[in-house]
Amino acid sequence: MAEAGRDDEVDVLILGAGSGGYACALRAAQLGLSVALVEESKLGGTCLHVGCIPTKALLHAAEVADATREAESFGVLAKFDGIDAAGVRSYADGVVSRLHKGLTGLIKSRGIRVVEGRGRLTGPRQITVDGPDGQVVLTGRNVVLATGSAPRLIPGIEVDGTRVLTSDDALRLDSVPGSVIVLGGGVIGCEFASVWRSFGAEVTIVEALPRLLPPEDAASSATLERAFRKRGITARTGTSVESVRTEADGVVVTLSDESELRADLLLVAVGRGPRTEGLGYEDHGVTLDRGFVTVDDHCRTGADGLWAVGDIVPGLQLAHRGFQQGIFVAEQIGGLSPQPIDERGIPRVTYSRPEVASVGLTEEQAKEEYGDQGVTTLTYDLGGNGKSQILKTQGFVKLVRQVDGPVVGVHLVGERVGELIGEAQLIYGWEAHPDDVAPLVHAHPTQNEALGEAFLALAGKPLHAHS
Ligand code: NAI
Repeated sequence: MAEAGRDDEVDVLILGAGSGGYACALRAAQLGLSVALVEESKLGGTCLHVGCIPTKALLHAAEVADATREAESFGVLAKFDGIDAAGVRSYADGVVSRLHKGLTGLIKSRGIRVVEGRGRLTGPRQITVDGPDGQVVLTGRNVVLATGSAPRLIPGIEVDGTRVLTSDDALRLDSVPGSVIVLGGGVIGCEFASVWRSFGAEVTIVEALPRLLPPEDAASSATLERAFRKRGITARTGTSVESVRTEADGVVVTLSDESELRADLLLVAVGRGPRTEGLGYEDHGVTLDRGFVTVDDHCRTGADGLWAVGDIVPGLQLAHRGFQQGIFVAEQIGGLSPQPIDERGIPRVTYSRPEVASVGLTEEQAKEEYGDQGVTTLTYDLGGNGKSQILKTQGFVKLVRQVDGPVVGVHLVGERVGELIGEAQLIYGWEAHPDDVAPLVHAHPTQNEALGEAFLALAGKPLHAHS
């Protein structure tokens, strides 16, 4: 039974406490604004509970499994006895719960009012929340929509959570499957394929487009596919799924080339859709385009005082983008004049084995923008990098440069290279020329040096550089 509503007006009223929503709340509070944050589930959202954090914990467990299996090649005697799926879950859950506790404490300490329940936009600046304590009506001088995304489903493929899974279900598995078909060779598909292979499963990825990680530079996709093949992961690219049949002991998938695949499980990882349905957005001046909220480059919806951030806004669906948009909106509400976010400067990392990381333009995009003659590239093979040899990893650093201009794209493949994207991002963000970067000293031996070497080569002073 709903209780009588309580009217409250705050400076910033936020719907959704994922990366975008909570970052907005924290920054707004820091700027002295009064804030209310509405959340129907747990503070932290997809990233903390069913996304970035638990999946990266699984990937780390996968790395430990591979290291144990391959220990002998480093002269270490260890025996790989298998995976304790419950143990892996408890490790991942522990990481999530510590971070959740920290975040909850932080939000409380900043005086942010957290309202538990499902909120809907019921007025231009009003959110009605149905929660455990009944109904609450809140108003804000500004309202920030940050309701995030959910796994996209394919009509005709029924997700039952047991044989046919989304990534949410895959995180809750209490055993390692013997075999898996992964539908979609994007970021989620490649990361789960990588984990399951390290845990000992037979893995086949089915990707409709001609290559894995289609938005990445073609060279990165090719190197990842080669590395996956060596690891025993099969990639059926340029192929789509026609139909899925569930049987007592597994799934049978019919592909567009009429062949059939059988496995214990099917993971559906074909993208994430915005969570904007049934929330009253369109009734109060918000324009939706295929479910996404239309905003300008300041995250403003068409309606006065109504903003949107994170996965509901078209563009990269990444936690750190939502996070930055949340801060950006809070600062505008707080009277500051922050610069709009350059989407191309947002770093992207796929944490598979090997990792794929990038910032800026791919070679193809740069050529579209500056013409074939307007772009040069340089690829430095990790084979020449001491630390990568020590780690026994292969891959490359690829730089894409506008002729006589700055570096407009950096692409990396190899184990642990995700950690190098920070420097690449600064180079991109500061529109650095090779001569600006070449004099910087990189610590030896690090994988970071590979970036340094690549820049020396691009500046015309190769030390150990390959082509
Ligand atoms: P995605 O958009 O990255 O990849 C989906 C893939 O499925 C695409 O390559 C698409 O061509 C393919 N596909 C679609 N329909 C298909 C069909 N019928 N048959 C075969 N292939 C089909 O989406 P994904 O991997 O589900 O990830 C969702 C979002 O979550 C992404 O935006 C991603 O950036 C984000 N994410 C980011 C992570 C990271 O930054 N490390 C980790 C996991 C997710």
